[in-house]
Amino acid sequence: MGIINIDISVAVLSAGMGTRMKSETPKVLHSLVGVPMVHYIVRETKKISNDINIIIGHKADEVKKSLSDEFSELNFITQDIVNFSGTGGALRNFIPKYNWTLIINGDTPLIISDELQNFITSCNKNINLGVMALKNPKNYGRVIINNNEVEKIVEEKDASESEKNINLVNSGLYLIKSELLTNYIKLLKNENNQLEYYLTDIIELAKKDGESIAVIEVSEKSFKGINNRIELADAENIILDRIREKIMLNGSTIHLPNTVYIENSVEFIGENEIESGVSIYGNSKIINSHIKSGTIIENSYIENSTIGVMAHVRPDSKIIDSKIGNFVEVKKSKLTGVKAGHLSYLGDSEIDRDTNIGAGVITANYDGKDKHKTRIGKNVFIGSDTQLIAPVNIPDNVIIGAGSTIPSKTEVETGSLVISRGNVRIIKNFFFKFFGNSKH
Ligand code: UD1
Ligand code: CA
Repeated sequence: MGIINIDISVAVLSAGMGTRMKSETPKVLHSLVGVPMVHYIVRETKKISNDINIIIGHKADEVKKSLSDEFSELNFITQDIVNFSGTGGALRNFIPKYNWTLIINGDTPLIISDELQNFITSCNKNINLGVMALKNPKNYGRVIINNNEVEKIVEEKDASESEKNINLVNSGLYLIKSELLTNYIKLLKNENNQLEYYLTDIIELAKKDGESIAVIEVSEKSFKGINNRIELADAENIILDRIREKIMLNGSTIHLPNTVYIENSVEFIGENEIESGVSIYGNSKIINSHIKSGTIIENSYIENSTIGVMAHVRPDSKIIDSKIGNFVEVKKSKLTGVKAGHLSYLGDSEIDRDTNIGAGVITANYDGKDKHKTRIGKNVFIGSDTQLIAPVNIPDNVIIGAGSTIPSKTEVETGSLVISRGNVRIIKNFFFKFFGNSKH
């Protein structure tokens, strides 16, 4: 028959504690590549349904706030986690809007809507179960099949030794006729080793009533469940692979991709080269640039520039036609056509074309109370180890001598040499007077 193009309700189970994460943060809010786990699920399920129901319970307000800040039109349903704990208890207060309900665990963030759609299309019974055949089925519920029919699902904690050898597992994805779901949820009992109401028990109940259950294989790459921080790291790596592959296929080179961390929100335009150990966060845009080893870029715009090695570009920076070198930190600054090769801090500054920033130059932007701006014009040469105490404005065509401290609001005319350096004193034979002849 195939169930396609019909309205379905979606229930995302997100009320659990996630004990195995050993965390104050609810499991479904743990992030992968900067995005909370349950957000991935909501983003993908929204593509296939307009009735998304999030089951909340443990730290319900936190989960609700995180999702409401990002998505609209979600229904939140609160589970009575004290009296009805477990994935079956989760659905007691849920009233489906449509005739079919897709249930998905909130801890499977690798899902993609295409695969959900394929699953739905393959469904052909009143109860349909997504399963995976795993080399290592540990911790999953095992699917018990007899005479080619699914009989029940047994959780790891309730499984006998021989059941533990079964490698067909429940993925936590179900498509069920809403009416049946509502009926069976009420019949669940918590007579098991965890004293929880298991959603999975509806399989056995339905089977006894003569229902037959469809088993549809789904891939581990999309339905891996996350229960501890090792699984979190594994899943994060899968998401990073998807992000990095997309970037490479769009024409940017990534060296040693496994060492590179790039959030999905980062945009790459044109041809870029990204070396090992680079991290790029937020709404950064990278256009025709070379990002060298160990560089960190946060929420910034980089165009036609070379950054690094080991540079730190902090939020709200715009770097165009520039060369930013070793150990340079840039924050909330606009650099156009600038060279800053070594060991500088450039914060709250605006620096114009053909200006050279020597090694160790620092914009002292903070006076202990407020932040101030540094403006440097075109074609300025700032000698090494210069401190510019903001607010300060250096016009075009100026040289600042190495080792200078430029006080705030210093008036500088175009064409000047500015230098503030103590005179060199040479005191002959001082060494020998001080140490005598026997120092060495
Ligand atoms: C569950 C399944 C198991 C399946 C596995 C797939 C049950 C009983 N077991 O086991 O068969 O192989 O998922 O990943 O369903 N949750 C609630 N309320 C609760 C408890 C949990 O909403 O009271 C939510 C959790 O937030 C989580 C999801 O349900 O997102 C799954 O719960 P979890 O405890 O991780 O179940 P598993 O032991 O992994
Ligand atoms: Ca789980």
